[in-house]
Amino acid sequence: MSKTVLIGTVKPFSPNARDQVVAVFEEAGYTVRVLESYAAQADLVAAVADVDAMVVRSDKVDTEVLDAAKQLKLVVRAGSGYDAIDCAAAKERGVAVMNTPGQNANAVAELALAMMVYVARGQFNGKPGTELRGKTLGIHAFGAVGRAVFEIAKGFGMEVLAYDAFVPASDIEAAGATPVATVEELYQRSRYVSLHVPNTDQTRNSIGKALISLMPEGGTLVNTARKEVIHEQELVEILTERSDLRYVTDIAPSAEIKAVLEEKLATQVYMTPKKMGAQTAEANVNAGTAAARQIVGFLDRDERVNIVND
Ligand code: 3PG
Repeated sequence: MSKTVLIGTVKPFSPNARDQVVAVFEEAGYTVRVLESYAAQADLVAAVADVDAMVVRSDKVDTEVLDAAKQLKLVVRAGSGYDAIDCAAAKERGVAVMNTPGQNANAVAELALAMMVYVARGQFNGKPGTELRGKTLGIHAFGAVGRAVFEIAKGFGMEVLAYDAFVPASDIEAAGATPVATVEELYQRSRYVSLHVPNTDQTRNSIGKALISLMPEGGTLVNTARKEVIHEQELVEILTERSDLRYVTDIAPSAEIKAVLEEKLATQVYMTPKKMGAQTAEANVNAGTAAARQIVGFLDRDERVNIVND
């Protein structure tokens, strides 16, 4: 019997990327359903009833979705962070979860550097700004995105330090960046800190006053990762105490904090209008088609790559 797959993306891929994802499935002889820009979570719940696998982005795959998906065997997150998927509940129901690590890393890394330039140049206000060359950049977490940021930052002539709780200093050194011994040292020495930490039980609220207050005069914290890793109340406190510090983010803070940042700390904060780090034509094609190929490999040939809930 033909297999049925769903592309469920509240934030859609570019039309060209979506068509390429569909083509991978059609070539495998699958029936493809596409649910884009859906208005309510109930729409996703309704769309999964008979699907064998699904491709999602930051879409919420919770117990309600999983329970409605009686045939589901695999969820693939076309991207890196899978914190919107209830991986444990999926495992309990015999559903594998995969991601596509690295496929959108360059897009996110380019945006991180672009945001640094944007704030260094006074949000393009025409007044004298500063340059990135010669400034110290601390990369917090040296995974695929952190490494891509490093590669681009070299071109800007930045001095790059990196810290990752799970990557040995020797690996950071082998990649060409300078490892630091502690996360505190990273914040202490870096004029710019670029965050690439996933949202997990261990990292949630882990970046607060204790770390941010270590940053040097004029320090800028750049967040293209997740809002959840920031202790948002402490962020407001430290920005209020230190008017020299800036927070630049691609991820909207919680509503209440966003209002405070906009009303009271607007000169120190820049937020993109909508999360857009991975939103390029290239990243959509790379992550979307990788996800589709992983689904075909799993359903047709039992290929088990990038499983995150084993
Ligand atoms: C990721 O985890 O891959 C990025 O945050 C991109 O998320 P998005 O696909 O929702 O844009």
